[in-house]
Amino acid sequence: MRTITAEQPLRGRTILLTGASAGIGLAAAKRLAALGAHLLLVCRNQARGQRALAEVQAAAAPDTPVPELLLCDLAQLAEVHKLCDEVLSRFPKLDVLINNAGVLPDKLIATDEGHELCWATNHLAPFVLTNRLLPLLEQAGAGARIITVASEAHWLGEIESTLEARIDPNRSSAFTAYCDSKLANILFTKALTERLELTPITAHCLHPGLVRSNLWVHSSWFMRAMMVLALPFARSNEKAAETIVCLVTETDPQKLNGAYLKSCRPARISSKAASRAEAFRLWRISSDETGVGE
Ligand SMILES: NC(=O)c1ccc[n+]([C@@H]2O[C@H](COP(=O)([O-])OP(=O)(O)OC[C@H]3O[C@@H](n4cnc5c(N)ncnc54)[C@H](OP(=O)(O)O)[C@@H]3O)[C@@H](O)[C@H]2O)c1
Repeated sequence: MRTITAEQPLRGRTILLTGASAGIGLAAAKRLAALGAHLLLVCRNQARGQRALAEVQAAAAPDTPVPELLLCDLAQLAEVHKLCDEVLSRFPKLDVLINNAGVLPDKLIATDEGHELCWATNHLAPFVLTNRLLPLLEQAGAGARIITVASEAHWLGEIESTLEARIDPNRSSAFTAYCDSKLANILFTKALTERLELTPITAHCLHPGLVRSNLWVHSSWFMRAMMVLALPFARSNEKAAETIVCLVTETDPQKLNGAYLKSCRPARISSKAASRAEAFRLWRISSDETGVGE
């Protein structure tokens, strides 16, 4: 990959990053601020958000615009819409949108708005955020990009059409719901590249590796036990953030438009994730469920 090498290659770029309070997102935010970017950090918790803000500010390159904290519970689409309203009214352009926030809960949960929790947080929130913030990405022009953190878990994913199927314990579990949402991340990226064909905006997704983050803390006892065994092979958050940073600093993003990366290199995806028909079906389902992206 050809990446920009100047001392502050991201000076003048505005980057909105979700899930900035911990894990891979926080590590990426610190690195991107150190490269000169203006960071908009989306977090759901005020105290954790303030802590992250202080860490990102401390890591930022000299004279970088002060990073900002935007509070939003991404599991609630009404809050995602409020976040979009605020960003659209306050910022003239957005160079990079990083859909990183994610959850792996210990059981199937339906949100107050009637969505399965993983589906809402990991897929519908990025779907709404991206579609509504497209005008700001368009304002940024050439080089604007959307980066979504997916996972190898997509290999086990299916796209269910209804909430009933998603929360049916005979068909689904918290883990399969997570896998489904990660398949949706890749199909979403694929569908986006087609829809953005006539614009300079590109879309990319990635697997960060197996990471020693907080993702596992709220997962089932089985997943936590698996993670304990896998711990010696797991990456640090800083190492995992490298593929995000590679995609943000890539000087020729068109070359990687629609790509799924692992360790900064294009990687294989499942046949379901590569299916154009599935990408269209996912878009239709997501658009029906959110009322955006028609
Ligand atoms: N860890 C891995 O091995 C691994 C592997 C493949 C892919 N990934 C993906 O990597 C991404 C980042 O996860 P991570 O490993 O860094 O996990 P993490 O340490 O748990 O961080 C997840 C971030 O998402 C935020 N978040 C969760 N639910 C949210 C909500 N409803 N509203 C707003 N923010 C919310 C968390 O906020 P709080 O601090 O408030 O909880 C946190 O900032 C996820 O998309 C995950 O699927 C991780």
